[in-house]
Amino acid sequence: MQQMAQSLKRDKVKIAFVPTMGFLHSGHLSLVRRANQIGQVTVVSIFVNPTQFGPSEDFEAYPRDLGRDAEMLKDLDVDILFAPNTSDMFPEGFTTAIENPVLGGIFEGKSRPSHFRGVTTIVGKLFNLIHPDFAVFGQKDYQQCILIRRMVRDLNFPVEIVICATVRESDGLAMSSRNTYLDPAERKAALVIHRALQQVQALVEEGERRADHLIEALAGLVHQEPLAHLDYAQMVDAATLEPLEKLDRKTAALLAVSIGKTRLIDNVILDPRGQ
Ligand code: PAJ
Repeated sequence: MQQMAQSLKRDKVKIAFVPTMGFLHSGHLSLVRRANQIGQVTVVSIFVNPTQFGPSEDFEAYPRDLGRDAEMLKDLDVDILFAPNTSDMFPEGFTTAIENPVLGGIFEGKSRPSHFRGVTTIVGKLFNLIHPDFAVFGQKDYQQCILIRRMVRDLNFPVEIVICATVRESDGLAMSSRNTYLDPAERKAALVIHRALQQVQALVEEGERRADHLIEALAGLVHQEPLAHLDYAQMVDAATLEPLEKLDRKTAALLAVSIGKTRLIDNVILDPRGQ
């Protein structure tokens, strides 16, 4: 992969890269379409990265179907599918990591210690292998986007980070490979996540600016759904993830909810100045 990327760079070919863990859905494919537009060669990686899963998390159960994924990517004319195995990426003796203990220790990082260390390390490795000019990520994993942007700035990776809107099912549920874990009752209950975020968006449009009121509204709605368990609801500065008391700038409303054993995240961006 690295040799191929180096040869493309020598020929001044612009590489657009989409990192994934596979079991592709329309959300992933929207990133691939964007990559096809902005680069001359599109590289998609599929690697279920063991280091971003906690010991009691779903690494083993995580859905995988490389054959189906490869067909989907062929239909989109993806140039290179990079699907390394674990021992290639983490050979014996691997001990180095990229970690942002500040941004990686809050929200998702609190519930999933070492998750973001796993994410930034693998994405850093993939950037060094693929030499992308552009790398495309989904807004669905908002904290991940901010961490990757920070890593690129802090460590001078020569890559432009592009963020695409969250793709949703027709009823509003954000697409996620983990939605396959939901039974029919849980699938219905999961709708509370997007509904709560929409409600908060409406409150901001009506003039509500106090973060505590908005967080209470989010939590209150989630608590009404018996199958849902709130992990966190937060109003943060959309650029820095700093928690806000008052919505006086672009804000990310972040929500993490467990539905049965499945943990789901979603967010909306609120711009109180434009409303
Ligand atoms: P994965 O969960 O497979 O997601 C790959 C990319 O697809 C991420 O950028 C994610 O934000 C994006 N994505 C997922 N669901 C989406 C949706 N409904 N709409 C738009 N984009 C969506 O995120 C990871 O893998 C890993 O952490 C990875 C970055 C590959 C590192 O291992």
